[in-house]
Formats: sequence, C-alpha cells, structure tokens
Amino acid sequence: MNYRHGYHAGNFADLAKHAALLVLLRLLREGQKSLRVVDTHAGAGAYDLSDPDFARSKEAEAGIKHLLSHNVPDNLRPLADYVRAKNAAVGFHTRVGLYPGSPVLTLDHLRADDDYIGCELRPDDYGLLRARVEPRGHAIQADGYAIATEVAKDSDDHDLLYLIDPPFELPGDYAAIVTTLAEVLDLRPDARALVWLPVKDLETLDSFLRHMERDLEGADIVAAEVRLRPLWNPMKMNGCALVAVNAPEGFAQTLEAIAGDVVAVFGEAGGVAKVQRL
Ligand SMILES: C[S@@+](CC[C@H](N)C(=O)[O-])C[C@H]1O[C@@H](n2cnc3c(N)ncnc32)[C@H](O)[C@@H]1O
Repeated sequence: MNYRHGYHAGNFADLAKHAALLVLLRLLREGQKSLRVVDTHAGAGAYDLSDPDFARSKEAEAGIKHLLSHNVPDNLRPLADYVRAKNAAVGFHTRVGLYPGSPVLTLDHLRADDDYIGCELRPDDYGLLRARVEPRGHAIQADGYAIATEVAKDSDDHDLLYLIDPPFELPGDYAAIVTTLAEVLDLRPDARALVWLPVKDLETLDSFLRHMERDLEGADIVAAEVRLRPLWNPMKMNGCALVAVNAPEGFAQTLEAIAGDVVAVFGEAGGVAKVQRL
C-alpha cells in the first residue's frame, strides 16, 4: 500500500467530503437512537501540516490554507470555523498547522452516547489513529469492508452511518464498495452511507453509479459531482464525487450547495457542480 493520506490532507476533495460529513452528523444528531459511525478507511485521524514530507505536495496549501485566507462561502463556513477552532485550541492562531481528518472531526461532533469505529490497514497510520481516537472512539487495524458488515450484524440499538473513503489504488475498490453496501443494507435497510470517489473520467463514475442503482435496490441514492475542470485529461484527478445512501431529509440540497461552493473556490474555467438522485 503506497497511498498515504498525509500528502493529500486538507485538499479540495477533503474539504468537500468533510463539509458534507459535518452536515450529515448535524442532521443525524437529531435522531432518537444513538448513532454508530463506521469509518471504513479512517487514515491517521488528524494531520500535521508542517510535516516537511507531506507539505511538499502543496495540496493543503492549495486547499484549506487557500480557503481560510479568502472569503469563505456560506456552505464551507462550518468546516472552516471548525478547522480554525481546532488549530486555535493547539496554539495555531495565525496559521493552519493541523488538519483534522474524518475520525477526529466525527468524534468532535458526536453526542455522549454515540460511538465511532475507524478501520485502518497501514501500521503507521493505524498507530496514529489509535492515539488520536482512543479511548473515546475505537480504532481497528483490519479491512474496513469486512468490519462494515460485521458491525451491521451487531448494532440493533444504534442508527448506522458508514463513511467509505478508500484510496482507489486498486480498481477493486469500486466493486468492493457496492458489494459491501449491498451486504450492509441487506442486514440493515435503514443504514446510511457517504462514499467519496475521485473523478478522472466520466465512464468510471457512471459505471459505478449504475452498479449502485442496480445492486442497492430500494435505497435512496444521491450523487454529487464536483468537477474542477472539464474531463479532458483522464490521467488527472479532475474533481471528486460524493454519493450519499439513505441520507436524511434536507441533505441533498445542502450537498448541492457545498459542491457549488467547492467549484466556485477551487474550480477552473469549465468547472461544474452537479447533483442527481438515482
Ligand atoms: C483516503 S484515506 C482516508 C481519509 C480519511 N477518511 C479522512 O477523511 O480523513 C484512505 C485510507 O484507507 C486506508 N486503507 C486502504 N485500504 C483499506 C482497507 N481495506 N481497510 C481499511 N483501511 C484501508 C489507507 O491506508 C488510507 O489511510
């Protein structure tokens, strides 16, 4: 496994994903049951943006640092305010030295009775994840797809939210997401999920969405595309997509607004935000 999220932490794609995750958590906190969040691909929990190795990619500079040094649009403001507060709490008042990943962001927005399970395979990032989430949350060094189904078997007293955010180093991730969600929804038709995907070319995303539509019959599926530029060069990451399964009322509109704001801040000529319900 070559992928290490530290090189990409705080880039535009993280911002789109984490802004959407914040909205989902806010809506789900209104539920009666306690919430269990399963982060199938958790990463290191939070990222030190001054790490010279990671900083070399300049992705945080073009992402969160760029965002916080400009007028922040409305739908990215909750995330921007949270990242600023998180930095201030550790003494970074004038610069962004830390970027909270999905584990830390989620734990910071759960109620006392809610719980968090994060899966990470890399030994180095698993060690960091564990240090950052335990004992409040639970870190597991295991395949997140397998854990997703196990948790669905044993969570009757919880609402379930899955965050599925693989590195897509292997083409098998697309099929694994659909298979895992089909198994989870078989056990728990009310489970919810937010899936992150890269957008390079249209064919790959379209084929993934067709499989979701075919194999997750009965689920409510909303897909948002954040295209920073036209998809002329399929070797480049031209944007990202967020696919929500069984999202609560009101989420789709906010997702569309977030996608629009990300394109407005980070997009080039020909960039576009699109949302469709499958
Ligand atoms: C895109 S990063 C996760 C970022 C994180 N969700 C966030 O938003 O802060 C994907 C992570 O998944 C890990 N990974 C890859 N395959 C995995 C698997 N099958 N199960 C669990 N973790 C995996 C990688 O090592 C990497 O740290």
